[in-house]
Amino acid sequence: MSDNGPGRAAAQPRRCVCPGSYDPVTNGHLDIIGRAAGLFDEVVVAILHNPAKAGLFDVEERAALVRNALRDQRGDDPRVTVSVWSGMLLVDVCREVGASAVVKGLRGTGDLGYELPMARMNRHLTGLETVFLAGDPTLEHVSSSLVKEVAAYGGDVKGLVPPEVHDRLLARRAARGPEEGG
Ligand code: PNS
Repeated sequence: MSDNGPGRAAAQPRRCVCPGSYDPVTNGHLDIIGRAAGLFDEVVVAILHNPAKAGLFDVEERAALVRNALRDQRGDDPRVTVSVWSGMLLVDVCREVGASAVVKGLRGTGDLGYELPMARMNRHLTGLETVFLAGDPTLEHVSSSLVKEVAAYGGDVKGLVPPEVHDRLLARRAARGPEEGG
């Protein structure tokens, strides 16, 4: 007999997906993932790779950077996993991992304008719900694309990204040389 009593099915864990390009992971992402883990039993960090779009970091490196940052932030927590998906709809990823919701952070109204149609489309496709969390105001200016641009021109992004990401961005710039780096 299960702990759930006679004839009662075991409760399924409430699972969500935190999707994104994570090229690279920022402290804004980590804030949202950590808060999602407070709301759901399990969190799948899904790195969605668009094969037509070249990123700065390849997807396996992105995944390693997220895993290492999560380990530093919360130790080895089996409730939060990281996986890479390529050329797939987010709704299909959610179906595959058994997630009932997507969790996204909103930094401001610009994010809402970008996210709302996707949330509605995902709900239209399979009924997948999206939960929006208000982004931490101290990280409002932090995005992967801005971090990459600032770092490429030699700006300091310390405190905006995990230390390992900071080091990788510096190494990229060093490898490219000063002329290209600006
Ligand atoms: O970090 P990003 O680039 O803002 O993440 C966007 C992402 C990857 C979550 C979004 O583009 C996405 O869900 N892509 C998967 C393909 C898909 O489902 N497209 C239709 C969205 S309604």
